[in-house]
Amino acid sequence: MSERTLVLIKPDAVRRGLVGEILSRYERKGLSLVTLELRTIDGAMADAHYAEHVEKAFYPPLRDFVTSGPMVAAVLEGDQAVEVVRLLNGATDARKAAAGTIRGDLALSNRENLVHGSDSAESAAREIDLWFPKLG
Ligand code: TYD
Ligand code: MG
Repeated sequence: MSERTLVLIKPDAVRRGLVGEILSRYERKGLSLVTLELRTIDGAMADAHYAEHVEKAFYPPLRDFVTSGPMVAAVLEGDQAVEVVRLLNGATDARKAAAGTIRGDLALSNRENLVHGSDSAESAAREIDLWFPKLG
């Protein structure tokens, strides 16, 4: 039943000193760290990661944001990890995210929303291969 998902702790979270707070929420929930790295990405990597969004109107500022500084990239593992991480992250628009979620408690923006979590098992496989190709 155990599955893996890709998490990004985005540049706003790193700048605000929220990495420990965010990681601890995943850990306290019971998810395990498989690998973790601090990474600053370029525009090509942003385009690959957000392939489904590159043509959208919100993408140019999103691309600037995710390349603006280091992110923590991590693979987390556990029962239904993809869905569990999305629940802990909260709704995409942090202004509307429920209290108790990472975005709901700690962010107030539709773009600078602290975290990324893969949205399906298929996305998780693609994203883990993109970010950590040696993980297998
Ligand atoms: P999306 O994949 O829809 O959200 P999620 O991160 O919850 O899977 O969008 C990717 C990121 O793009 C999102 O985290 C924040 C940003 N974004 C905007 O800046 N404006 C928008 O209108 C949307 C939908 C997303
Ligand atoms: Mg998404």
